[in-house]
Amino acid sequence: MNGLYGKDFLKLLDLTPEQIVGLVDLAADLKVRKKAGIPHSLLSGKNIALIFEKTSTRTRCSFEVAARDLGMGVTYLDPSGSQIGKKETIADTARVLSRIYDGIEYRGFGQSIVQTLADYSSVPVWNGLTDEFHPTQILADMLTVREHFGYLKGIKFVYMGDARFNMGNSLTVGCAKLGLDLTICAPQGYFPAPELVEQCREIAAETGGSITLTSDTADVAGAQVIYTDIWVSMGESADVWQQRIEALAPYQVNAELMKTAGEHAIFMHCLPSYHNRDTEIGAEMCAKFNRDAMEVTDEVFESPASVVFDEAENRMHTIKAVMLATLMKD
Ligand code: CP
Ligand code: NVA
Repeated sequence: MNGLYGKDFLKLLDLTPEQIVGLVDLAADLKVRKKAGIPHSLLSGKNIALIFEKTSTRTRCSFEVAARDLGMGVTYLDPSGSQIGKKETIADTARVLSRIYDGIEYRGFGQSIVQTLADYSSVPVWNGLTDEFHPTQILADMLTVREHFGYLKGIKFVYMGDARFNMGNSLTVGCAKLGLDLTICAPQGYFPAPELVEQCREIAAETGGSITLTSDTADVAGAQVIYTDIWVSMGESADVWQQRIEALAPYQVNAELMKTAGEHAIFMHCLPSYHNRDTEIGAEMCAKFNRDAMEVTDEVFESPASVVFDEAENRMHTIKAVMLATLMKD
């Protein structure tokens, strides 16, 4: 479908704007079918493998439920329950799994790992998050923005905080590809790599989008979307918390920032989020650094402006679209 049949889904840079919008459209259609109770087991008889070298709630559940809705069988390989990496290389794993399965999802560390998996696999490989990119998340984010505002091109989208990792990178690519006006509001040194920004500015020049980098929170005025991510990502050392809090505290999404954005702004977050002290790590870090929340206050997280659970639900519909488009012949 969409020219994506048999293809991998590793990063949005590999797709055309039309292919990305096509996936969002397909997800919206699949969402309607699911809500209406219309069966859509279009990939009946196929099987997929899910490799998770990092933990997950949304991505794993979305792949599992989406696969079952499409009629597929699923095998989950957890961070310790297989030979991957310890006794068997990624290249060998790819060749074994593609003899048995019709598609492979991978969540883990470097983008080069999922690239190697794809290079050696004869079936589609889907990126379920790497240090560099989280492409399925962006599809869910775009579906959520479009559901809320009715369009994507020209949306004033603000990303707050550490933009050097998977979410900052992927949103920069996604906004550029789909013609949104992206502002990244972060301290100096916390922007995506200059080469990626340059590449995305060239893409944005063709799609009508734009990319603005600023360290001034006053620049969020007029934002339609305020987006943030956790300050310390999976795989990073706990030692970086202090430095991150010092740098990023002025960029926390709180009531004052939402007021600066304006009354029509929605709040988005890929989740999980440290918006209170009610988690193990949240409690430990909030106590250690004498804070009630990290990247977003509980007040904003729980406010009517917050669409984070729409976003979470849309992970499932968009992941289903990716699997259908790559596994079903036109
Ligand atoms: N947003 C996201 O990827 O969530 P999980 O880590 O729970 O999969
Ligand atoms: N940046 C976060 C995203 C989680 C969905 C992480 O990698 O942990």
